[in-house]
Amino acid sequence: MLKIDIISVIPDLLTSPFQHSIMKRAREKNLLEVNVIDLKNFGIGNYRQVDDYQFGGGAGMVMMIEPLVNCIESLTQNTQYDEIIYLTPDGSTLNQKMCNMLSLKENLLVICGHYKGIDQRVRDHWITMEISIGDYVLSGGELAAAILVDSIGRLLPGVLNDETSALTDSFQDDLLAPPVYSRPAEFRGIKVPDILLSGHEEKINQWRYESSLNLTKMKRPDLMKE
Ligand code: ADE
Repeated sequence: MLKIDIISVIPDLLTSPFQHSIMKRAREKNLLEVNVIDLKNFGIGNYRQVDDYQFGGGAGMVMMIEPLVNCIESLTQNTQYDEIIYLTPDGSTLNQKMCNMLSLKENLLVICGHYKGIDQRVRDHWITMEISIGDYVLSGGELAAAILVDSIGRLLPGVLNDETSALTDSFQDDLLAPPVYSRPAEFRGIKVPDILLSGHEEKINQWRYESSLNLTKMKRPDLMKE
């Protein structure tokens, strides 16, 4: 069972992504629990303020240290987290290896940033891991959190119907997945490769492996180490 708590200022953005398909099944099977905590509940004053101007001047607000630390500490009273993750474009770029590693944990806390980001002191003293989902800037960390939870959640044993199917995903062995086909075997004269209809398992596996190699060489040569 993996529990993921997510701190957000827009919790609404994180309701639908976990209510469908594989994430829904993971939660229904009690393999994955996702809780979204509204940071505004820890905001300061009548306006429940969570952001403020940055010291030194400059455009853009900063998420304040006090609400964040109060929120983190109220959560750590009940849960010992394996990682406290901050989603930020200057974090380590998410890849399948990191997803595999995180899927083995039991408790994760994920913090979604907004505005110019969070007070650096939170990063220095509370955050244990910083993750980016790619070299582009989102308006907030929530969509990145949805991607992180989805990519980790589907790896939990028992979530996917066919236990082996996550093993044949692209990237699991530094190769892209081979092409797939379904019925009909011919559509408007466009045919499925004969080998896939042959029933010859060994040859099919060989074809898939070679297709993976060729695709990876063509599209993502950077994945191939040797
Ligand atoms: N927040 C804003 N941009 C982001 C990114 N690329 N990855 C993770 N969190 C982000």
